[in-house]
Amino acid sequence: MYFTYTNSIWRNLKNFIHENSVIRRKFSSEVKQEVKFDNFIEFRRAQASRSILVQVQSENSYVDLCNYCSKFGDIIGAHHYELKDNSNYILIEYKTLESIKEVLDSAHYNLESTGIPAYSPLLWFKAAGVVKGNSVKLLNDSNKKGILKISNGLYQTREADVMELILSAENVSDQIKTLHELTKLNDLEIRLRFLAAKQIENSISGIFPKASALPFGSSVNGFGKMGCDLDLVLRFNQGIVKDNINSRLVFHTKENLTNERSQVQKQMECISDILQIFLPGITSVRRILQARVPIIKFHHLLLNLDVDLTMSNMSGVYMSELLYILGEIDHRIRSLIFVIRKWAQSVGLTNPSPGRWITNFSLSCLAIFFLQNVKHPLLPPIDLLNKSATINDIRITENGLNCTFLRDHSILDFRTENNSELSELLLQFFEFFSQFDFSNKAISMNKGSAIIKPDHSSIYIVNPLEPNLNISKNISLEECERFRIEVRNAAWILDNEIENAKSNSKSTTKLWGIANLFKTSQETVIKPNFFFKPRMVEIKNLFDDKDEEKVISDENDHLNIKESVKTLETNLTKKFKINKTSDR
Ligand code: GTP
Ligand code: MG
Repeated sequence: MYFTYTNSIWRNLKNFIHENSVIRRKFSSEVKQEVKFDNFIEFRRAQASRSILVQVQSENSYVDLCNYCSKFGDIIGAHHYELKDNSNYILIEYKTLESIKEVLDSAHYNLESTGIPAYSPLLWFKAAGVVKGNSVKLLNDSNKKGILKISNGLYQTREADVMELILSAENVSDQIKTLHELTKLNDLEIRLRFLAAKQIENSISGIFPKASALPFGSSVNGFGKMGCDLDLVLRFNQGIVKDNINSRLVFHTKENLTNERSQVQKQMECISDILQIFLPGITSVRRILQARVPIIKFHHLLLNLDVDLTMSNMSGVYMSELLYILGEIDHRIRSLIFVIRKWAQSVGLTNPSPGRWITNFSLSCLAIFFLQNVKHPLLPPIDLLNKSATINDIRITENGLNCTFLRDHSILDFRTENNSELSELLLQFFEFFSQFDFSNKAISMNKGSAIIKPDHSSIYIVNPLEPNLNISKNISLEECERFRIEVRNAAWILDNEIENAKSNSKSTTKLWGIANLFKTSQETVIKPNFFFKPRMVEIKNLFDDKDEEKVISDENDHLNIKESVKTLETNLTKKFKINKTSDR
């Protein structure tokens, strides 16, 4: 294939190949094989605790910076990035936590600045000439390579370059994999997300030493693409339940005098003020406190992040864990969800601002449901994960929500016999939802089958952790109709593309394969009737017939959640004890 990559594409490709191998090496030595969600979160949190971010003149400052900073301890990695305003930053990771204390204790405040002297891991590096008597010994070239892991690490491959690479792929499935590899969140982006969380945590640690800010959503669920927003939940009581429970000394605390909701709103107002007034980098703070889940939105200038901060929303974290685990079950799942999200964005089904349209989260749930229903399912019903839970998997949120499911999917009694290519799966996804009866059926990922719709929402997706809630309640009838038209269009286009790709030689200049899916809806010709070509009549054969099930008020029902959680805990404890006994 005669195709020349531009330098920038090569640089990006080399970056992600390098960083992926670094991560794999790290995980394989520190966490061993399977990376469980909790381990992944702990690993990243610990990494953020050992990191500082330093603004520098340019990428070339890193030798000087690393040389200076190694006075405080061993540096195990430096990662550079440049923002659109040409400001440059280097994230430095130390080997031990002690070095962070030393390096921050050594830093000083700018005496000429009128700014509030906030203590945080975000610093800037003065030019060498200003530091008197400091003899700078430059690191040699081999050190330099060892320390600077990534340069220009937030570089995003331009849309046109992604398209060029997609067009140079061998077949449609390779196109899907290429899209995933080129656009997924990279190592540095994940590091910066956890550093943002750490900065908030540190800022209130004096008064709330047990508080923790936990990333959730696509930043950690495996479906995040470069530049996606950061969803954070701030918890004040992480770990206080078990710690020191036998101590006879008890902290005085203020009682909540108003109802819990208005109390949370007041706390969030206070936190948003702290963020806005004191924390460097945080700007454009907005409060949306009347929503079902009150939220603070802000932009982080230095870390280049849009952040949504909530409090006491652990169900979001557990939902992310559930998606993470499902994405780990088969290597095709994340690539498939990436291409579906990308397609939905390019035909205008999704939109960065919230509204009456489908969200990325709902789309991921639709994809999961499809994968549970395809002939030879790739994913089990979530009920199977609930039933297989062990004593270590019990999780109950502050407001009594049962988020207990098996965390270690390797012991799950489920294996797929599905060997379909990604291209076939994508086509089947479009075909499946072209024919799905959204008017009468709801989607239950828990049961892995359709159930009777409990209300008149246009699309009903049962929330797996809160089965009395509809994840896609926001979607209007018009948007549902648009979704149905777009999946029919996509099925028609992709079917032709797969056929053509088999027979014709691929072109690197003419659009082919998934590239033809990524046209705005104005560019595509909407002809729903195209869908009913002869081969489509056989679509039923693709999927297992499953009986409809009613929405059942069973032990998952939340009317009596606390009761059922107790029963569940007792049952699991019994089950665990029985297993232990029978093991002996
Ligand atoms: P992008 O930000 O678009 O990349 O995807 P995301 O998965 O992060 O979605 P979003 O930022 O909108 O939401 C963050 C997380 O909140 C999701 O991953 C879910 O765990 C949770 N979430 C979002 N919307 C809903 C909803 O309608 N109901 C419930 N229960 N949880 C939701
Ligand atoms: Mg998000």
